[in-house]
Amino acid sequence: MVASLITPDPETAAQAAAERIAAAIAERLATATQVHVALAGGGTPRRAYEILAGLRDDWTGVHLWFGDERVVALDSDDANAQMVTEALVNPAGIARDHVHTVPTHLGARRACDTYADELRRHVGDASGWMPMLDLAVLGLGEDAHTASLFPVSAALGVSDKICVVVADAPKPPPTRISMTMAVLNAARARIVLATGTTKAPAVAASLAEPDLHVPASLLSRDATTWILDEAAASDLPRNLR
Ligand code: 6PG
Repeated sequence: MVASLITPDPETAAQAAAERIAAAIAERLATATQVHVALAGGGTPRRAYEILAGLRDDWTGVHLWFGDERVVALDSDDANAQMVTEALVNPAGIARDHVHTVPTHLGARRACDTYADELRRHVGDASGWMPMLDLAVLGLGEDAHTASLFPVSAALGVSDKICVVVADAPKPPPTRISMTMAVLNAARARIVLATGTTKAPAVAASLAEPDLHVPASLLSRDATTWILDEAAASDLPRNLR
């Protein structure tokens, strides 16, 4: 059963997401020395990250990863790493060696392979080779893509890899590295944050039957919390609101 939390507006959705991420971090660190969180890029989560930065005093043990990254310079305004650095890493004073950025300067193929190796090295495994992140924070595109897994793309079906190169993303920039759906679903928990009327059809489709045309519908229905504002939830059937 999918859990959803619907708030009045984008600000309260950001607040709720920040609090849920902070709670997941605190819960994990109660019994472990490290917690591994993959973050979403794009624009929606920025405010949640800004709020999150103020919700912990001690970030020791928190390792940040990226569910996807655009193959651009990491200090570019197009880079998810840049947005996370501005919104969370710098304000919270998180140690750079705990922020695992995708080494995009290596080029797409080597960046993907290097990132997969780093995930294997740092993150405990779900089953042998598959790293088990503690939390994956995800966004949602208007076409229901999540991370950089776009509708009916070859990347969606990759189940034996940790991350993939996406060379033809319909959302610019076109070349990206994305964690696979297998890795996202191997995480202990997922949070999907979506706000705004333009996301309402994608939200409703994502919470309907799994469909390769609707990537986010392939996210596990267990341990996944959808945090929505009322606008993004406006196309959901009544029983899901
Ligand atoms: C990216 C993101 C992507 C994003 C959605 C929603 O690199 O673009 O990871 O999956 O979450 O496209 O983007 P917005 O939050 O900007 O609408």
